[in-house]
Amino acid sequence: PLGLGHAIWCARDIVGDEPFAVLLADDLILSDKPVLSEMIEKFDRFRASIAAVMEVEKTETDRYGILKAQQLEDYVLKIEDMVEKPKPEDAPSNLAIIGRYILTPKIFHYLEKAQHGANGEIQLTDAMQALMNEQPVFGYRFKGTRFDCGDKVGFQMANIAFALERPDMRDRLLKFIKKVENNHLK
Ligand code: G1P
Repeated sequence: PLGLGHAIWCARDIVGDEPFAVLLADDLILSDKPVLSEMIEKFDRFRASIAAVMEVEKTETDRYGILKAQQLEDYVLKIEDMVEKPKPEDAPSNLAIIGRYILTPKIFHYLEKAQHGANGEIQLTDAMQALMNEQPVFGYRFKGTRFDCGDKVGFQMANIAFALERPDMRDRLLKFIKKVENNHLK
């Protein structure tokens, strides 16, 4: 309840002194290759923390951790600054963190000292921002479609998209969707 940063900090004894992944289950991603496995590959090369990122509507920056970053190579950004839930007029860009992270255990040092940030919560973004003073942090622009399952419409979209990927469900579901679209239910 104290925020994402606090939730992660609570897992410190289970994680120990090793890099670890954080997955926010309300961010569901449809992709050919699992985003986290792509990020593990990048981690193995850079040996530094990395978060999934994507562009969001400029009007919606106050729902995300937002980055200032430089492109390093295809799909990889070097993060220079990050801020949790900035108003559109204060946002350094429209590049947002999405709920996949690989973090070095050093993050616990900063979560330990974390102050209450945006929305009064202990924010992972603030701890990552502090971590950047001593270790680089990267962003991974993943390939795929992300669904915000914390939003009612996003949750329904995810159900439809994932179901349509399944050959055993696709045809029946498509027929139904067309029927609904043409108002033939009542
Ligand atoms: C959390 C993070 C935020 C990130 C978002 C992605 O926010 O704090 O930095 O951009 O997940 O979904 P929440 O959705 O918990 O408000």
